[in-house]
Amino acid sequence: DWTADQFVESTVANLKQKLGNDKVVMALSGGVDSTVAAILVHKAIGKNLHCIFVDNGLLRKNEFEQVLDSYKHMGLNIKGVDAKDKFYTALNGHTDPEVKRKAIGKTFIDVFDEESHLLTDVKWLGQGTIYPDVIESVSVMGPSVTIKSHHNVGGLPAKMKLKVVEPLNTLFKDEVRVVGKTLGIDPLILGRHPFPGPGLGIRILGDITAEKVRILQEVDSIFISSLRNAGLYDKVWQAGAILLPVQSVGVMGDERTYEQVVSLRAVTSTDGMTADWAHLPYEFLANVSSDIINKVKGVNRVVYDISSKPPATIEWE
Ligand code: XMP
Repeated sequence: DWTADQFVESTVANLKQKLGNDKVVMALSGGVDSTVAAILVHKAIGKNLHCIFVDNGLLRKNEFEQVLDSYKHMGLNIKGVDAKDKFYTALNGHTDPEVKRKAIGKTFIDVFDEESHLLTDVKWLGQGTIYPDVIESVSVMGPSVTIKSHHNVGGLPAKMKLKVVEPLNTLFKDEVRVVGKTLGIDPLILGRHPFPGPGLGIRILGDITAEKVRILQEVDSIFISSLRNAGLYDKVWQAGAILLPVQSVGVMGDERTYEQVVSLRAVTSTDGMTADWAHLPYEFLANVSSDIINKVKGVNRVVYDISSKPPATIEWE
């Protein structure tokens, strides 16, 4: 029988043996997977693990500062890199989802490559890849069809000539959380919803601008904090907001408005491979909707996504 304690013990022992005195570089995302993977590697090799956290300008509101802080508290050797402008430049004018993903992935690789070259003698790339990433990126429909390109799998090592170490690639998300708990990682981090590598970049349909990011960050922040306050956050697998490339007519006082539409998305799931839309209480949705419309300038309509996966995916792009 699998237990988290045994997993930690044997994984750390294997990592020690495999890595010896080698240096490892890892990109962290603030998510459960990369954090748990980093702590395991850190347990095995300590300061020889160099972590990099990139601000791609597509993170949640205040996420960069908060996450960087919590990593420092965990004792990780981490560097925060502000690359927002590089990403916005690379994304400028692009509307196609896969083109956007690739632009984000490529910029990420460039930034990461540049940063890791500032380190000397790095031999390994650590990654928080989990089992579903491995199979979804190969494809659920057969090897020739990629449903969505996941930029967190592959890409980096070929260019950087680093050997890859992925301590979580046999685990599902719930197992990763149990391992993280055994490692004493903050429950707030462990309980975090999955968040895609391309971040808000695939939740802003159409082209991406700093202003659209700002609007979506505000909407997302209201939705997520409302879920927390209502005790619903831990009941859903993942939640977020999508900024639609659509304006609709509204009325405010006696003025006609013509502003953006946002969709809220919350799903229940056990592994992200299938998902049901979360049956959130109407009262809750009503409050979140009026909160968003009252507080976020530029948004006058909120809709709720009632599609399950399949046939819809969790993300809209
Ligand atoms: P979909 O939208 O395919 O999402 O149902 C399944 C899970 O994967 C996440 N996701 C991504 N994660 N890079 C990532 O790191 C990506 O390009 C990407 N696309 C989707 C999504 O948030 C959900 O948890």
